[in-house]
Parts: sequence; structure tokens; C-alpha cells
Amino acid sequence: MISSSSLRSLLNREEVFPFLVPDIPPELDLSHGVILYLEGISVSFDGFKAINDLNLYIDDGELRCIIGPNGAGKTTMMDIITGKTRPDIGSAWFGQGINLLKLDEPEIAAKGIGRKFQKPTVFEEHTVHTNLELAMAGDKSVWKTLKAKLSSEQKDSIYEVATLIGLKEQIRTRAGSLSHGQKQWLEIGMLLMQSPKLLLIDEPVAGMTQQEMERTAELLTTLSGQHSVIVVEHDMDFVRSIARKVSVLHQGSILAEGTMDEVQNNQQVVEVYLGE
Ligand SMILES: Nc1ncnc2c1ncn2[C@@H]1O[C@H](COP(=O)(O)OP(=O)(O)OP(=O)(O)O)[C@@H](O)[C@H]1O
Ligand SMILES: [Mg+2]
Repeated sequence: MISSSSLRSLLNREEVFPFLVPDIPPELDLSHGVILYLEGISVSFDGFKAINDLNLYIDDGELRCIIGPNGAGKTTMMDIITGKTRPDIGSAWFGQGINLLKLDEPEIAAKGIGRKFQKPTVFEEHTVHTNLELAMAGDKSVWKTLKAKLSSEQKDSIYEVATLIGLKEQIRTRAGSLSHGQKQWLEIGMLLMQSPKLLLIDEPVAGMTQQEMERTAELLTTLSGQHSVIVVEHDMDFVRSIARKVSVLHQGSILAEGTMDEVQNNQQVVEVYLGE
């Protein structure tokens, strides 16, 4: 006998029923596990092309670093992936045939794309535990969430995430008294409570101490594999410490892509960015 919950989770797996999957573009090759596919994306603000014919392909479980000068379009690219900004033209697909351009921000988040903004936005007056608990509940009301009893699975997952982000000892500490770096980890933990498939992280180490940076590098490296992670960062030592594949964004397009050594030795990249 199959339980109704396992049947439901089976039915949610679109790959089990490919014939139910809506309009996959015929040219989309899913054989090597692309989780995010952006092609020919452009967007203008008052005639200025912030994103210009952008192509970006992220593999399932990949950790990708995006670098590039101020104003290159890195944050705008994240705005497009999360539905905050609509491109003028182009395609954006996620996972097995999810057309991001047909979904709004909450729908995209519910499909499994979590985003961390630069400034931590934790509930300062609540403990680490409560912050994680509230994040797990998503958009349910704070009052309802705090009144509801946690299942043992939910308790376990709060402790698992607290351990992963290095805040197990601080689980009963008010978020407001954490260090800047710890708040950043808590916010990553809050994203993890929603089990996202893809995490977008914009400038995670700005304002962190050297030691916090090292721990953040470990955390992001650990998260990849289980999740796909896109990290935008200006700190080149940090990027070097986590980088596998690096994409350089310049004037809204990909200028170069490769290992850190490859992009650092690319003449065009040196001219527009690293040579500054
Ligand atoms: N909503 C908007 N309206 C008008 N212009 C915008 C908007 N969003 C971004 N821009 C412009 O688009 C360009 C790209 O900005 P974006 O914030 O994406 O750059 P970035 O690569 O994230 O830069 P930084 O490294 O400084 O964070 C900039 O010139 C910016 O002023
Ligand atoms: Mg930015």
C-alpha cells in the first residue's frame, strides 16, 4: 500500500511523468543535469541595457562564482532569476521544465530557489531556534507557528541546520546579539529550512572577519552537491578559496568563464575588472 503522502511526493516529481511537463523548449538538453538555464536574456532600464544577451547554464549541485565590476548586472541577474525583475527578452528555465518567466516571486521561491540578500534580515528579538522555526513555516503567521507543536522530524531538522551553520551552541541566543558573520550564517540557515534546490547568495563575506570568511567558504562548499549555489562576490581571495567554475559578468553579458586561474589570466578580464 502506498501512503497518500508518498503518492503526493511522487506526483510532484515531474520527471516521473515527463508527459505532464509543460512546454519544455525543444533545444533544452537535460541529459547533463542543468538546473538553471538562462538564454538570450536582456533587460533595459530607461534605455540602459543592464543585462545584454546573457547566457548562463548552472549544473545540478554546482557551486558557481560570479564576479564582475560594479554595475555589471550581477544583482539584476539574480533579480531576474527570482522574478523580481522581468527581462525584456530571453528564456529562463529551472529544473525539469519550469519556466521562470511565467512565475511570480513567491511561486519561484516555492519551486526551490532561495535568495540571500547582502544585508542580513533575521528577527533580532528572536532566538536562533525561533528564527529557523519561523523560516521552516514559510509564510504562515508568526503567532500560529509559535503556538504549533514541532514534530520530532522538524526539531531534528532545526538542529541539523543549526549545526551546519555553526550555531548549535548559540541555538538559544537572541539573533540580535550574534556577530555580523553569525547573522549571515543564520540567514543562510533560514533559507535551508525551505530545502531550496538552488541558492543565490549576493556578496556573503562583506564585513566579515578573516575567520568568518573561512567558515563561510567551508559552509558554501558543504552546501554544494546537495544544492546548487550561485555566489556573487568581489573579494577575490574568498572567490579563489571556493571557486570551481567562475563566470565574469561585464556590461550585462558573460565575458569569460573557467577556473579562477583561467579567468585571472584572461586579458579582457584583467582590462575590465581585475586590473583596476
Ligand atoms: N531597478 C532599476 N532601475 C534602474 N536601473 C537599475 C535598476 N536595477 C539596476 N539598475 C542599473 O543596472 C546596472 C546593473 O546594476 P546591478 O546592481 O545589477 O550591478 P552589480 O553587478 O550587482 O553591481 P555591484 O557589484 O555594485 O553590486 C547598474 O547601472 C544599475 O544602476
Ligand atoms: Mg550587486
